[in-house]
Amino acid sequence: MSVVSYQLEGEIGVIRVNNPPVNALSHALRSGIQEAVIQAKLDSSLAIVLICSGRTFIAGADISEFGKKPQSPSLSELLAIIEASKKPIIAAIHGTALGGGLETALACHYRCALASAEVGLPEVKLGLLPGAGGTQRVPRLTGVKAALDLMTSGAPISATKALSVNLIDKIVEGDLLSQAIAYGKEIIAQGAKIKKVRDIKVDDVGISDEFFREYSQQLSKRYRGQKAPQRILKCVEAALSQTFEQGLKTERKLFVECMESSQSAALRHMFFAQRMAAKIDGLPKDTPIKDIKKVGIIGGGTMGGGIAMNFVNVGIPVTLLEINAEALQRGQDIIAKNYARTVNKGKLTAEQASARQNLITGTTHYDELAEMDLVIEAVFENLDIKKQVFRKLDQVCKQGAILATNTSYQDVNDIAKATSRPQDVIGLHFFSPANVMKLLEIVRGDNTSDQTLATCMAMAKIIKKVPVMSGVCYGFIGNRMLRQYGREAQLCLLQGASPDDIDSVMQNFGMAMGPLAVGDLAGLDIGFKAREALTAEQKGDVKTYCIADALYKMGRLGQKTGAGYYRYDPQTRQRFSDPIVEQVIEEQAEKYSVERHGLTEHTILARLTFALINEGFKILEEGIAQRPSDIDVVYVNGYGFPAHRGGPMFYADTIGLEKIYKTIGEFASTYGEEYWQPAALLKQLVEEGKTLTQWANS
Ligand code: 3HC
Ligand code: NAI
Repeated sequence: MSVVSYQLEGEIGVIRVNNPPVNALSHALRSGIQEAVIQAKLDSSLAIVLICSGRTFIAGADISEFGKKPQSPSLSELLAIIEASKKPIIAAIHGTALGGGLETALACHYRCALASAEVGLPEVKLGLLPGAGGTQRVPRLTGVKAALDLMTSGAPISATKALSVNLIDKIVEGDLLSQAIAYGKEIIAQGAKIKKVRDIKVDDVGISDEFFREYSQQLSKRYRGQKAPQRILKCVEAALSQTFEQGLKTERKLFVECMESSQSAALRHMFFAQRMAAKIDGLPKDTPIKDIKKVGIIGGGTMGGGIAMNFVNVGIPVTLLEINAEALQRGQDIIAKNYARTVNKGKLTAEQASARQNLITGTTHYDELAEMDLVIEAVFENLDIKKQVFRKLDQVCKQGAILATNTSYQDVNDIAKATSRPQDVIGLHFFSPANVMKLLEIVRGDNTSDQTLATCMAMAKIIKKVPVMSGVCYGFIGNRMLRQYGREAQLCLLQGASPDDIDSVMQNFGMAMGPLAVGDLAGLDIGFKAREALTAEQKGDVKTYCIADALYKMGRLGQKTGAGYYRYDPQTRQRFSDPIVEQVIEEQAEKYSVERHGLTEHTILARLTFALINEGFKILEEGIAQRPSDIDVVYVNGYGFPAHRGGPMFYADTIGLEKIYKTIGEFASTYGEEYWQPAALLKQLVEEGKTLTQWANS
């Protein structure tokens, strides 16, 4: 079937786009619309409606065509043809009109939308800018500030908001096609005027050089190191200072610069990586999925409370079980406090917040979990306690209920063995704060059934998480790699760097926070307690944790005690370097006979990132992660790795595997082979002269 059809409905010509799943502007689609506009030009129609089938209006350019040879008509050529039409063209919007989709609507002469529709320009999230006139047309309709906010955030806005900033002309209810046709007839009755956005003058009242300077500074802070937001700003400046045609040329030049940038390549990789991660190789597409209507959560501490919020936020009731009434109350109070904060920020009304909290029932009796479809255990990180909990669940839960553990490190297979139904047991590893962090590692045990796995992957989408499947190993994908990254941070400290040296290097690289600042935020007691549960052999070389232990023993637990690797201002939480920490590091270096000397930024960066990458290779060769891009999704969504570098494994390809392999060899001789053993897969790919991407696609 053709992706575009054209039909005359009385005096209205209807162009219908049908290119599932999201009507992306592929070459076939662009050609099809072009032909339809030409056909309409020649027939008896007096106005034209552009409408889409399926779940959405055009959701943008076809991202999979990026980087390939452009084919005519380009989107800009098509939009010039649409805009030049002598018969008014009306865009009829439902679903999400995004990117090139919204730009198409803006080249039309009128826009109507269903109230449920959303519009937006998400190009910035792909390291791009709206490249088909969006940067020139949007400020003409909305004014400069609203245009910049829309394009630099990339966030969609509702139809109501779009109407209020003039991006659309009318909100319609009911059947979109008949409403759009009626609107077309109205326009014909009023003389079928051609309204071109390009003819509007940008409102420049109150817009000065100072305004752009300040906006640019805000963008630098918000998007450290990213280029697309600043280029969007330049395009909008051009919309004020240049003619429409000149502005389009400026936009094109800057769009091409973005498109050719490594940042955009990385962000486009992340777009597809995230969608790919939801797919499980070998899992039949028709695997039946269980309905999750009631959820039980065991343990209402830091994680349990946050996990509960995810479910009630989407209307799924939760029964929260704690050891006693006091612990239960404490957990419920924390949840209440979290909701109160959201209400204070204006993101929820007090009624909405209390309706959600009312969906949480507290209990101290396991019997009340009998009817749950899914139970998630989030008790202390102790295998014996967890096994006890699963034994009880096995006794009380209905057959077919999914029994999940939020463990960070314990063996999911061992936990499953505590039950008579290992096929229903799975790891659901949420990240802290669980109501905020997007990542969900879904840990497949040896006996986890396809149905349990498929249900959890689908459930993740319902609660708006980004799921990635991991096999069973110590720390799964994320924390296993993090351990090696942390190891290098500790060794760098011991060998001569300061906490600030290390954190600054990683922040300049683009990490949301440096590793030591993260330690202070999470609390140094967490790492200490996790180490306590390990045997001496599992703990590894004392040099990789002696500083952390020393700080813990001094009561420096991080932000919560006002001091950890740094000292913190109690009011502002601003951090300061602390000479005491330097002293602690020197004492430990002396104790373990480590000579301290300066480390270059380059060395610190290579040691920390290559430690991550090398472990990532090991995870791949063991089959713990399905594909390199899954690891990237874990690191970008769970550990603050900069998306514009594409995650650690994509970053490895951009550096070159040979260089990494060679450097690891050098590190082995300088810092010790016990830390630096190149992964067999890395060695193999270097010998074969392959990139990781080539390996993944082979
Ligand atoms: N190009 C190619 N494929 C796309 C696509 C696009 N613009 N948008 C979505 N897809 C694909 C996805 O890869 C996915 O494929 P899969 O089923 O094989 O995995 C499928 O469509 C469905 O996508 P989602 O799983 O994301 O579906 P949702 O219903 O959850 O979300 C959506 C729909 C909100 C439209 C979301 O897909 C989205 O945000 N898409 C990207 C929109 C975008 O970034 N547009 C701007 C493109 S750049 C541009 O237009 C440049 C222009 O200015 C010149
Ligand atoms: P926490 O100590 O804040 O909460 C644990 C809660 O479980 C406590 O409220 C306790 O009263 C309750 N509990 C203990 N034994 C119980 C039992 N037998 N029955 C019912 N309730 C019981 O711990 P936190 O941080 O929430 O961790 C829970 C789990 O989540 C652990 O396995 C941890 O490894 C994992 N996790 C923790 C993360 C974090 O950043 N805190 C991140 C990801 C996973």
